[in-house]
Order: sequence, then structure tokens, then C-alpha cells
Amino acid sequence: MDKFIIKGGRRLTGEVTISGAKNAAVAILPAVILSDEPCIIENVPSISDVNISIRILKEMGADVEFMGNNTYRIDPSSIDRYCVPYETARKMRASYYFLGALLGKFNKARVSMPGGCPLGDRPIDQHLKAFTALGADYNLSQGMIDLKADSLKGNQIFFDVVTVGATMNAMLAAVKAEGLTIIENAAKEPHIVDLANFLSAMGANIIGAGTDVIKIKGVKYLHGTTYSVIPDQIEAGTFMVAVAATKGDVLIKNVIPKHLESITKKLEKIGVNIQQFDDSIRVWVDGPLVKTNVKTAPHPGFPTDMQSQIATLLTLAEGTSIITENIWEQRFRYVDELRRMGADITVNGKVALIEGKGKLMGAPVKACDLRAGAALIIAGLAASGVTEIEDIFHIERGYDCMEGKLRALGADIEKISVPETQSKSEKESSKEAV
Ligand code: EPZ
Repeated sequence: MDKFIIKGGRRLTGEVTISGAKNAAVAILPAVILSDEPCIIENVPSISDVNISIRILKEMGADVEFMGNNTYRIDPSSIDRYCVPYETARKMRASYYFLGALLGKFNKARVSMPGGCPLGDRPIDQHLKAFTALGADYNLSQGMIDLKADSLKGNQIFFDVVTVGATMNAMLAAVKAEGLTIIENAAKEPHIVDLANFLSAMGANIIGAGTDVIKIKGVKYLHGTTYSVIPDQIEAGTFMVAVAATKGDVLIKNVIPKHLESITKKLEKIGVNIQQFDDSIRVWVDGPLVKTNVKTAPHPGFPTDMQSQIATLLTLAEGTSIITENIWEQRFRYVDELRRMGADITVNGKVALIEGKGKLMGAPVKACDLRAGAALIIAGLAASGVTEIEDIFHIERGYDCMEGKLRALGADIEKISVPETQSKSEKESSKEAV
């Protein structure tokens, strides 16, 4: 099992380049199945969730070539099955995007149920609502989801909750369905727009992505294309918070400032200086951090995937801050670990009360999910003394060479391997990820 060892107290300075967006890549890679010709996908992050997506494509018969420089050439024409191998699919929650892509291409799909996970219940009722609206029947048995349709016909889909995954899956299933599909109460995250742009680059007819109404006119044929994944909004936000937590000064490159608006506004309220350029931002701190309240919400609100990171920053501000988590019912599991580092945080349901003390102390801690792990790295960078972080496989699911990028900014962080008595939590967690 690998660990991060961080000696805290070093300011982050210099320049860092953000990688492609995890939550866009894990939807775009399955979407290649819908094409009738090879596609080239660029700026793909080197993370384990992408490795699992690529492995699934290969196991289903696609011809996949890694061309170097974060670029893959994928020819889906040799895909000859519609069932995603159970063991591989279970390793990644986003494997459910193969449901929408396979249904959209073959009128049938069979993928393992995405289990519960560190964030709490992960229902898929809205995904199934979208698929049935388009004419598919489903059957859930032995942990698998089976979808079948004689043919897919466009329809109106109104989501009861704003859901990224179901919005993505509805688009994937609808792009080749006959007629018009209208998706209402759609999610508006940047990765939703990125998937829509990729599908459009293949010849799909989609308008409205990024708003709460997406209209799709089905087409018969989708041609190959070359497409570059957008920069990762959450990786950029994570680095912004890390710079603030170490009172550093860093130029963060390969970003889309518009995607960072809610994070930028919140950090400026906390006392962080941010200067925006076309595709980069400079982040620095030259004064005290100020207590601030945060409520997570679907885009363009403050992203839930930044909640644990900003909470860590607020433990370093003097005074009481309030965090309200409105998306996931169990997204405060990192709090126990921060308490081991001296944080004073009280959690009551979806609200966390943070009594900022202005400092943290290094300690041995454990990552319980992807973003919780990122928060612990930030805490370790800011803390006095040494922090050891276990179960870093969570972090490596969604951050492309985090420790290398941090070391280049002056952090004292290294990854060490410990004897292979795989921890219980790694055994459990490697079965399912968020
Ligand atoms: C995506 O998860 C992201 N994962 C999550 O990021 C992110 O936290 C989440 O969107 C919200 O932005 C990927 O993109 C791979 P949802 P997803 O469907 O699609 C409820 C990370 O750290 N819901 O938008 O699973 C659900 O319970 C990960 O990168 C239903 O009720 O999230 C939740 O309360 C963690 N029924 C809310 O909607 C459904 O059928 C939002 O979930 C689906 C969802």
C-alpha cells in the first residue's frame, strides 16, 4: 500500500499546469462507443479512473492505442459485446456511463450496479427514468443492470433532482434515438457541456448543454473526430486552495477561469488574491484568512467536490465558519481525520461548524474518498510537522501526479510504498469508487 509523507510549512510558489478533467474524461471515453469511426481524444488525465475506462473499452473489443502526450486513438468498430465485465466495472462508479453509450449504440446494455460509496447512497432512479422514457426496459438482478429496447425514440425527460450522471446518460442514450428528446432540469456542470461538445463534434444534434434544458435531435450516424478534454475545474480549485493554505504565490495554467467563478469568488471572500488571465490564474495570499460560510450547490453554485478542500482552508482562518453540504449526505467523513490534526469541527447533519484556530499539526491520517484525500494533502502542506496519508489510491483515482506537481511548487511530499498487507479499507474501497 502506498502512502504520502508530507513535511508541512513550505509555501507553494512557481507554476503548475492543470490536467484534463476526470469527470469529463470518464464520460467522453464511453461516448466513443457511439461513433461509427475511430476517434482521437487528447488531454486525457493520467488517473486510475481513466485506466479503468480504457480497460473496459479494450475488454469489449475496441482497438485502443495510447499515442503518448495524454492522447488515445480509439476505434470502436470492433466492439462486439454490450456487457461490461463485472469485476472491472465495479472498480469505478462512472462505469454507468457505459449504460447510456451501449444503449444508444446497440439498443441494449449490461453493466454492474454502481454500489453505495463513501458519499452515502448513490441512487440511479433518474438514470432509469431517462432510459425508460426513451423506450428501454430494465431489469436489476445479481448486482447487474440490464437495459433492452426494440428501438429508442426521443421523448421529454424531466429530472426530479439535478443530476450530473443522469444528464450525461440521457444525452448518451438520446443522440441516436429517433426524433426529439428534451431534457429538463438538466445539470449544467462544465463536464456536461464538454460531453455535449464531443458528441456534437461527432455529428450529434444537441443544443442547450450548460442550461437546464437540453434538446437533442437523433441522428443515424456519428463520424470520428479529434477532441481535447477540458481542463479539470476541481483539480484547479484544489491547487488554488493549496496555495492559499500555504500562503503561497502560484500561476495555475491550463484553466478556464469561467469554470472557476464560484471557487474564485469564495476564496476572495476568504482573503485570497486572484488575478485572471485568458487560460491561467495567479493565486497568492498576503494577509489573514477570513472566516466564511459555504453552501454547496449544483453548477454554477459552489461545487460539492470542493467542499472538503475549502473546509480545510477555513480551519486556518480565525473564527467560526459554517459549511452546508447540500448534495451528498455523507461528505463530512474527512472531518475525523482533520480533528486528528487539531481541527475543531462539529458536524450536525448536513452542516459543519468550523472553529478556525489558524493552525494544524501533522499526524497519521487516512483518505476515505477522492476529495477527502485531497483535503488531507492540503492540511499536511499547511500543518507544522509531518503528516502521513494512507489509502492514497483514492487520490490517484482523480488527480494526475499530484505529488509531482506539488513537489515542483516547493512542497516537501513523497510517496512511499509499505509492505503489501493490503489494508482492509483498500480491499473494500478498491471494489467501488465514487
Ligand atoms: C458526479 O457524480 C461526479 N462524479 C461527482 O464527483 C460529483 O460529486 C457529483 O456529480 C455532483 O457534482 C462523476 O462525474 C464521475 P449526481 P454523480 O448524479 O453523477 C442524487 C468526484 O469527487 N441522485 O449529480 O453520481 C444523488 O443522490 C465525484 O469527482 C438521485 O437522487 O452525482 C445526489 O444527491 C464525487 N438519483 C444528487 O442527485 C439519481 O438517479 C447529485 O448526484 C442520481 C442522482
